[in-house]
Amino acid sequence: MGICSASTFSAANSPHYLWIGENFMCGIVGYTGKQNAVPVLMQGLHRLEYRGYDSAGIALQQKKGLGIHKRAGKINVLESSLPKRIKGNTGIGHTRWATHGEPSDTNSHPHNNNDGTLAVIHNGIIENASQLRARLEAHGVSFKSETDSEVLVHLIASTEAASLIERVRIALTDVEGTYGLAVIDAAHPGVIVVARNGSPVVLGIGDKEMLFASDTSALVRHTQQVVYLSDGEIAELTPGAYRVITLDASPSQKKTTTIDWSAETYDKGDYSHFTHKEIHEQPESVLRALRGRLDNKFQTAHLGGLNLQPRELLGFRRIKVLGCGSAYIAGVLGARTIEQLARVPCDAEPASEFRYRNPVIESDTLYLAVSQSGETFDTLAAVQEIQRKGGRVLGIVNVVGSSIARACEGGIYVHAGPEIAVVSTKTFVSTFLAFVLLSLHLGRMKDLSVAEGKNVLAALNLIPQQIHSILDAEPEIERVAKKYAVFNNAYFVGRNLGLAVAMEGALKLKEISYIHAEAYPASELKHGPLALVTPETPTVFVLPDDELIDKNISSIEEIRTRKGPVLAITHPPREGTQQLFELVDDTVIVPKSHPILDPILMLIPLQLLAYHIGLARACDVDQPRNLAKSVTVE
Ligand code: AGP
Repeated sequence: MGICSASTFSAANSPHYLWIGENFMCGIVGYTGKQNAVPVLMQGLHRLEYRGYDSAGIALQQKKGLGIHKRAGKINVLESSLPKRIKGNTGIGHTRWATHGEPSDTNSHPHNNNDGTLAVIHNGIIENASQLRARLEAHGVSFKSETDSEVLVHLIASTEAASLIERVRIALTDVEGTYGLAVIDAAHPGVIVVARNGSPVVLGIGDKEMLFASDTSALVRHTQQVVYLSDGEIAELTPGAYRVITLDASPSQKKTTTIDWSAETYDKGDYSHFTHKEIHEQPESVLRALRGRLDNKFQTAHLGGLNLQPRELLGFRRIKVLGCGSAYIAGVLGARTIEQLARVPCDAEPASEFRYRNPVIESDTLYLAVSQSGETFDTLAAVQEIQRKGGRVLGIVNVVGSSIARACEGGIYVHAGPEIAVVSTKTFVSTFLAFVLLSLHLGRMKDLSVAEGKNVLAALNLIPQQIHSILDAEPEIERVAKKYAVFNNAYFVGRNLGLAVAMEGALKLKEISYIHAEAYPASELKHGPLALVTPETPTVFVLPDDELIDKNISSIEEIRTRKGPVLAITHPPREGTQQLFELVDDTVIVPKSHPILDPILMLIPLQLLAYHIGLARACDVDQPRNLAKSVTVE
């Protein structure tokens, strides 16, 4: 994976150069066909902006050779630096996000060789770049940038073969590391060569035109017919055709996939922010997650992609969930749901930590890798660690055809649709629903009664409408948000499933508004966090009306005694809970559901709260600082 990655080159292995972290979440795009490539590339780069970047560049085949234009800064800086009538039918483009060292024009991609005949864009890390650079310099090559990527263009330039694809193939046999790369050569008009190893590359098949990109968002305006390259594959694109070979020069047969999403899906429509749009898309995204999966005859869920026989599934004595960030938190929630409905011991762990503790992989444990993008490096590395040790992993993934989806032997697609905003909102909820479906499926194979299965199904059917009713209450949540936007610290607390909701609510607030927000089990307050409760530190309490409500009311009393403001996300008042409404400063009331599904309805106000607090604090809610949509680096 590791699209553009933070280079981990240390001073020890690169004594002569300051290696610039080769991109964090860069994007690549390219076009060859009858149109002028420039608008196609610029539009593609804009589509990839959501991934985060700090410089951008393009290379074009032009009458007089290759034209390279690259600038540090936003894409409009590059756009305004382009000559007026710039034209070329074949070109490649790149957005780069450096993690170490200053972004600069020189370090931006594309890079070219010393005689300017080749141009290369690259996402990933070339691990043996120091050695390759030393070898190339010994042969008289001069380097312009401090990046590891530049070795690729000089390495390709040093090879000899009749075709560009063969030159790239020969060069890559010397390369260690990850790449999603593209090359054009002034001597081969109309040809682009792309290659993938650990960093996504998708080909787009148009009408007498071919495109490629690091994700389909940059392709959908032109085509919905795509081909996903696998690791170790190299493709030659010409306007009317493509061919794929492997690193050992064998031809590779590829399948074309039709993507469901249209270009409009990637637009904000009437919303000011993708975050807001995606929060509001949840009634539909929830329906997509459920469509065709609810079985009213046996009061269970159908999950076609698990690729496990019922007996195999029943044979697992434990389930372990792995994911990062929101995917991990969805896993925490999901693990508790699996335990409650299916009575199988289950826990979740951050995938980013997993491989460092030399985990014991057991043959009677089922591993679940959770990822919206399906490209998160740490999660993929956890999958590989488990598989290397003989374990079985299923994926719970949003992006169809992504690396994690393909690495796992089966799984559940969450079908939330493309999520552009950096923060997960609709994909969190749909991922959790995938866990509910799995819990129901497994539970009904074990001890979950028909009656309880029926209750869960009935509650699932109501969820879209209930989400609508929460979204309709947005003005009230916005009012509360404005009040809480002045604080610089916040606690989010809850118990059991409510704790996982609190964790996700705190993460949303941190990401969108930069307010320091910590999630704690309510039961832990008196073991430390109470020390920081003051009138300046509000607590957001996730407070379902369940068997723990009295304990939660006592915790609120502890907070109120210290004059800490409390915002409760809770259910409508009833006899016995009125005192709660007198105790807290603010409430957001959500409809009741089956207790397993309450987390969904309690979370949506927290998503809106974070969004409106972020707006009130003038934050970049769609692209929070220092964050990328998918983290394809270690
Ligand atoms: C969520 O809002 C985050 N931006 C982040 O924590 C994210 O969930 C994490 O990086 C995992 O991404 P994935 O689901 O694509 O694997």
